[in-house]
Amino acid sequence: MKITVLTAFPEFFRSFLETSIVGKAVERGLLEVSVVDLRGYGEGDYRRIDDYSFGGNGGMVLMAEPLTKALEDLNDPSYVVYPSPQGVTLTQEIVESISTKDHLVIVCGHYEGVDERFVGSKVDMELSIGDYVLTGGELPAMVVIDSVSRLIPGVVGKGRAVVEDSFYRGMLDNPHFTRPAEWRDMKVPPVLLSGNDKEIELWRRRESVSRTLTRRPDLMARASLRDYLEKGYYVLWSPPDKIDPSALRTIVDGCVSYGVSKLLIPVVDGIRRDSLRALVSELKVDSTVKLFPSYQRGLEWIAKKEKATPFSVSMGKGKGEASLSWIEVKMEFLSRRCPGVFVFGDFVEGDVVMRPVAGDDRDRSALPVQNAVSVVLDRFFGWR
Ligand code: ADE
Repeated sequence: MKITVLTAFPEFFRSFLETSIVGKAVERGLLEVSVVDLRGYGEGDYRRIDDYSFGGNGGMVLMAEPLTKALEDLNDPSYVVYPSPQGVTLTQEIVESISTKDHLVIVCGHYEGVDERFVGSKVDMELSIGDYVLTGGELPAMVVIDSVSRLIPGVVGKGRAVVEDSFYRGMLDNPHFTRPAEWRDMKVPPVLLSGNDKEIELWRRRESVSRTLTRRPDLMARASLRDYLEKGYYVLWSPPDKIDPSALRTIVDGCVSYGVSKLLIPVVDGIRRDSLRALVSELKVDSTVKLFPSYQRGLEWIAKKEKATPFSVSMGKGKGEASLSWIEVKMEFLSRRCPGVFVFGDFVEGDVVMRPVAGDDRDRSALPVQNAVSVVLDRFFGWR
């Protein structure tokens, strides 16, 4: 990957690029970073790159022409990022997305900002590193370079370190400890000294979950629960009398894509069950679908398989105010350590009732069940 920084203060980057892990990555040829001095493209004897803001308060604005000339001089297709407090907030997802670009150009603004015509015509993404104002784009540029470069294979020593980071799959990192095992009467959690890798992994995941739930519940909307649930999760669908094979196919595909352990279909009537069994085998979805004579029998089967009572959530309005938002249900799932069941179709309510998937008009949920299944699974197990 190649990163070019356009800046009026190239000296800012010297020690950053010489001493940091990023510097080592540059040295080892894993990353190429060049810093271009904008003054080299300035106008007139004084190499002017900024001017007074039109109609403004006397502040200085970087001119569009020197920036554009510097960009054109690179003569290479690139993805242009402009750090500014007006940009979208930098998240790990954005870092992941920009780390896939072959050539990233970071334009450092200063003073009042950059001529908006340059931003509008040349910038692919305006990025903020937080809701506060800095004096220029150099520090944000280093933040971008640092966060992007550590995703390049080989830059951070251990491959696992990046995978276990905060925000990997949307959760915060677990706490870390080092020697001594007891320091000023404070002991390291004993499990970390046990040598039991499985237990340690479980402890890590639980710590990540509880930290995220208490410190950053807002992250829950985006997090996939896939790696954090301790038991399997299931979809239980009570089908209409006449099943549309394509609806069944779509539900199965959704279940497979989102890691659902099994799709359970309760059908009371034996003849109907036989004909559904025939359809299941015709569609070759036997490994995902399991038929039951009742809802209760389905839940019992899960309890036996997982050696734990499942926690079920159905979709609907619930009694009175009883229905929960999907975020509340997501948090509920994480705080329990039992198998989860998403119940679709109209019959008994689950342990909790989740407000149904709805479009603009909340009173009218006209979404076919197969679409609702995909939307719900994506909210719980999708990556965003
Ligand atoms: N430039 C000044 N403040 C900034 C911020 N918060 N994020 C990105 N660029 C900036």
